[in-house]
Amino acid sequence: MITSDELKKQAALAALEKVEPGMKLGLGSGSTANHFIRGLGALVRDGLSVVGVPSSERTAALAREVGVPLTTLEETPRLDLTIDGADELDSRLRLIKGGGGALLREKIVAAASGQMIVIADGTKLVETLGAFPLPIEVNHFGIGATIAAIAVAAVRLDQPVTLTRRLTAEGTPFVTDGGHAIIDASFGRIRDPEALSLALVAIPGVVEHGLFIGLASAAVIARPEGISWLVA
Ligand code: 5RP
Repeated sequence: MITSDELKKQAALAALEKVEPGMKLGLGSGSTANHFIRGLGALVRDGLSVVGVPSSERTAALAREVGVPLTTLEETPRLDLTIDGADELDSRLRLIKGGGGALLREKIVAAASGQMIVIADGTKLVETLGAFPLPIEVNHFGIGATIAAIAVAAVRLDQPVTLTRRLTAEGTPFVTDGGHAIIDASFGRIRDPEALSLALVAIPGVVEHGLFIGLASAAVIARPEGISWLVA
């Protein structure tokens, strides 16, 4: 039986076909994005000329290891294409991201790109977003007040939620590359992703959240029966 990791690799390799010489690329984070970066590294070793902006320290380390030249958004503020995984996506290409805690840089990189292609195995495509807990990146200062404000925003949207502060495997508070905390918000089913997004960004302690709306232009979905493309 084909594993979910093999399907992630198939999606990543299919997206590689959209990479053209000279492109400035946003490099996503996570196991699916890692397959893309390894594939890109092989093409670079064969002579492809591209540069990438990594969306996490882990991605930067892998890109260096496999020989993908890196730049920054200071040097290169506009990118051609970002390729990244997702924790969930719906048929309108609305995403939940941040399972790996890289959502802030992932969103900055995606927003700086002309196109974003999502790479995923078929289990990530859902009818309604929210079975995967929504990661919300928050400032450490005032974290109790921020958590309370998120709960109030959910009540106003008639949206039941359970909020959990993310911990590392060792049980210490998880800290993002930007030095912030993550609150995982379990909604079960997000009734109105656009309204939730607006309500969350209006809370001062919220740095960013993992709903990516209007950013992805296409998605490659790999299932055991084959690859399919979703286009916005
Ligand atoms: C990291 C992310 C990842 O793209 C998301 O968690 C999917 O991960 P994977 O490809 O390992 O399933 O948003 O912040």
